[in-house]
Amino acid sequence: MQRTKVLVIGSLNMDLVVHVPRVPNDGETILGTEFHRYFGGKGANQAVAVARQGVSTLMAGRVGADAFGRDQIASLQAEGIVTDHLLIDEEHASGVAFIVIDVQGNNRIMVVPGANGAVSPRDMQALEPVMAECSCVVIQLEIPLETVLAAIRAAHAQGAKVILNPAPAQPLPVDIYPRITVITPNESEAQLLTGIEVSDLASARQAAQVLLDRGVLAVVITLGSKGVYGLTLSGEFHFPAHQVKVVDTVAAGDTFTGALAALIGEGRSLKDAVEYANAAAALAVTRRGAQPSVPTRAEVLRFLGR
Ligand code: RIB
Repeated sequence: MQRTKVLVIGSLNMDLVVHVPRVPNDGETILGTEFHRYFGGKGANQAVAVARQGVSTLMAGRVGADAFGRDQIASLQAEGIVTDHLLIDEEHASGVAFIVIDVQGNNRIMVVPGANGAVSPRDMQALEPVMAECSCVVIQLEIPLETVLAAIRAAHAQGAKVILNPAPAQPLPVDIYPRITVITPNESEAQLLTGIEVSDLASARQAAQVLLDRGVLAVVITLGSKGVYGLTLSGEFHFPAHQVKVVDTVAAGDTFTGALAALIGEGRSLKDAVEYANAAAALAVTRRGAQPSVPTRAEVLRFLGR
C-alpha cells in the first residue's frame, strides 16, 4: 500500500511576541507597541505547514499539563492533525518562546523548552509502528539531540523518508547523515554544519557538496533573499526568492520545510517540492505570527498563478 501520511516529531511552544521600536540596551526599559500570543514551536509550525497543504499529518512531542499545552493540542486538532502521539508531561511546563520584533521585522527569539526537553529516545521507539505507515518523518533540533538521532535511526529503519530541518543548528554525528533523505539548513545552519561560510550560490554549492559527501541524499539550502539552492547526486538547481513585502520572518523556514515535506510525502519530485515550498515561505513572511502565517495549498497555488 502506498504511504502518504507525514509524521512530524518536534517542539511545540507558545510564542509570546512583543513588537518594539528598537531592541533595548542593557538595564534599559522601553515601551513596546504590541503584544501577541501565537501557537509556535518549530515542530508544531511544520506540522501545521504540512496539514495546510491537505496532506494527512501526525504530530509527536510533549506538552505540559497546563493551559498552553491544552490549547496547543486543541489548535492542532482543529487543523486536522492527529495528536494521539503527543504526550502530556506531568513534570515540565509547556515550551515557551519569547520573541522580540523590531520595526524592520528583525526578530530575536529566546526559547524555554520545558516539556520539549523531555521528549525521549524511548518515545521514539514507541513511534516505530507509526513511522512504518508514513511516507515521511520530519524532524528539527528543538528537542534533545539523542532523541533526534533515535528518531532518525528509527524512521530510516522503518523505510520512511527522513527530512531534517537542522534548526536551531548544532553539530551532528557523521554516522547519522546517510540516514537523512533531505536536509534543509538555512545559510547559518549550513555554515555551522560544514564550516563553510555560506553567503552566495557558490558557497552554498560548496557547503551542499560537503553534506552530500557525508551521505545525505538531497541538500536544500534556504538563502533568504537569494532564494533556494538544491543539490543531489543527479544535479543542482536554484530558485530565486519571490519579491514580497517582508513583515515577519518567524516560521518562514518551518513553512518551507513543512510544505516541502507535504509534496515529497505525496510523491512529487524534489525540484517541484522545492519550487512550491519557496512560494509557501514567501507568503509566510508577508504575514505576522508563526502558525497564523502558514499558507494553505489554495493560497500557494494562487500565488504561483496555477
Ligand atoms: O521557527 C520559529 C519558531 O522558533 C517559533 O515559533 C518559536 O516557537 C521557536 O521555536
